[in-house]
Formats: sequence, C-alpha cells, structure tokens
Amino acid sequence: MIRRIAVLTSGGDAPGMNAAIRAVIRSGSAKGWETYAVKLGYEGLISGKIFPMGKRDVGGIIQRGGTVLGSARCPEFKTEAGQRMAIRSLNEAGIDALVVIGGNGSQTGSLALHRLGFPVVGVASTIDNDLYGSDITIGVDTALNIAIEAIDRLKTTASSHQRAFLLEVMGRNCGYLALMSGIAGGAEMVVIPEVETDPEHIADVFREAYEKGKSHAIVVVAEGAKYNAMALENYFSEHRERLGFELRATILGHVQRGGNPSAYDRILASRLGAAAVEEISKNNFGMLVGQRKGQIVPTPLEEAVTKKKELDPEMILLAKILD
Ligand code: ADP
Ligand code: F6P
Repeated sequence: MIRRIAVLTSGGDAPGMNAAIRAVIRSGSAKGWETYAVKLGYEGLISGKIFPMGKRDVGGIIQRGGTVLGSARCPEFKTEAGQRMAIRSLNEAGIDALVVIGGNGSQTGSLALHRLGFPVVGVASTIDNDLYGSDITIGVDTALNIAIEAIDRLKTTASSHQRAFLLEVMGRNCGYLALMSGIAGGAEMVVIPEVETDPEHIADVFREAYEKGKSHAIVVVAEGAKYNAMALENYFSEHRERLGFELRATILGHVQRGGNPSAYDRILASRLGAAAVEEISKNNFGMLVGQRKGQIVPTPLEEAVTKKKELDPEMILLAKILD
C-alpha cells in the first residue's frame, strides 16, 4: 500500500517542470498520501536531500520556469553503487514510490531503480523532444516559441544589412527544435543530425536567395548536427564569395531553456504529473507517462529508453517544400 511518495527533477531543466511537480504533490495529497520532494535530482537522492513538500508548498510555482527542486547531472548515479545508495536514502525516508521528471538520461536512471526493485514512474520532460513514448515532452513548446522569436528578430536586423544568419538551436542528438522552428519561422533551410547535409548545398541555398534579391536568408542549425553553427562558420570563412551575403552566426543556447512556461507546457505538465500519480495508485510501476495522439498514456520505461523516436518524415519534407 502506498503511504508516501517523492518527486524529483533531473537532467536538463525544462519550462513546465514546476507545473509537473505541483501536479504530483497535489494529486498525491488528494489521494491522502504524504508527499515528499528531492533536491538536485539523483545527486540529492544519493545524499539524502529528501524533505516533505505539501500542497501549499507548491503554490505560486506553476508560472515559473526552471525547477524549484533544482536539477543535476550525476555521473555517480550511473553506477550500481550509486543507485543502491539512492535506494537506501529512499528507504530511510520511508518513500514507497518515486516520480522522476526528466529526459532520456533521467529515465534511463528511473529504469535502473525499477530494475533494482524500487517503484518508479517517469514523467517525460525535455526541450529536445527526443524521448520515445511522448509525441511532445514538457518544455518543447516554450523552447520552440523562444526559437521562433529569435528567428523573427534576426530577420529584421538581417534585412537591414542584407545578411545571412545561421541560428543554432539546442538538440544534443535530435533535430526536432531546429526542424519545427525552421518551419514556423520561415527559414530558408534547416540543418539537422537526421539528414546528411553538405555545406556546399547550404552555400547554394544562400547564393540562390541572394541572387533572387532576397534581403536576408536564415538557416536554422541543430546543435547536434555534424555541421553546427561553429563548423559552418569555419567552413564558410574560407568561401565567403560563395554565399553572396555577409554571414553572421547566433547560438541561442540556454536562453531556450529559461523563462516562464507557455500555457501548452503548463497544461501538459499538469496532466502528466497527475497521470504519474494515477499510475502509482494502480501499482503500475516502471512506466513513463507521456502524451501520444492527444491521450496521456503510460509506456514501459524499458521501451521508452531503448526505442528511438524518429522525426516525422512529412515535417522534413514540408520544411524542404516551404523554404
Ligand atoms: P536528460 O535526462 O535531460 O536526458 P542526462 O542525459 O544528462 O539528462 O541525464 C541526467 C542524469 O540521469 C545523469 O546525470 C545521470 O545521473 C542519470 N543517467 C543518465 N544516463 C544514465 C544511465 N545510463 N544509467 C543510470 N543513470 C543515468
Ligand atoms: O537535453 C537538453 C539540453 O538542453 C540539450 O539540448 C543540450 O545539448 C544540453 O541539454 C545542454 O546541457 P547543459 O545544460 O548541461 O549545458
């Protein structure tokens, strides 16, 4: 029987994590359970930073970006010794089940705890949108909106100076943010890890835009692409004449992870946090809760962390048609 649950946030933070924490705490409270939280992800779990967090303690956080619990990358947790220390802390605090809000790496950690016999449910949260089991994850919508605002802003200054811009957006292994912000921002081209791209082809795209008399050209580049913004800048520094335009590069970086979550992310996070509590109440552990085809559904963690989420080929085609 469940009496006490805990929640933590891990890995790269994502706007909406606070809404998910709030939903876990309030839904758990509504079940009559004692609710606890862990500071600093798996690092806090190993060092026993587990404390009571009640429904009033999560007031006023739904609109805030980041995570009030803090997050961390914790190499020690990748070892079985680290995982066993975490379970010891959970047992000492009397926790019956744990909710892990995080991305791919964090959910691999959830699976490790589950395999060692500790009851865990994961909540899909990462701006990269690379987690199998959820069509869209917490933070993606906000990050996309930040990326398209950046594209809109770059276009105005690019037009004034008749320049081309490379805009690098996040995505360690996945081009989702680049692809979708490129479509929504009306970029000339997107460069993503999923599609092999030759810099000569990018040069042709710039040149063609220049020769058509366009006032600017924008190429959105995923951080994880072989030719990211820095690699392309280096490459084009030798071939400026090929482009027509003068070239500048902007790396958006962590700006994409900051700021207040959008309405979409707050609602998604609220639904996923509440769904994680439902899975716990059904004793359905070792699951990741995510959204698929508009429904909130559980997927076994085993599947979520081993299967690769592919980009929609229709979206890749659309980006090519609309450029
Ligand atoms: P994200 O969850 O955003 O993908 P990371 O990949 O950095 O972020 O993972 C966050 C944390 O999850 C890591 O610092 C580590 O503590 C844990 N983790 C990652 N990979 C594993 C693994 N293979 N086994 C156990 N824990 C892992
Ligand atoms: O996983 C989310 C992410 O934002 C990636 O897109 C990026 O590569 C990475 O985290 C950056 O990590 P850090 O915050 O440790 O610099």
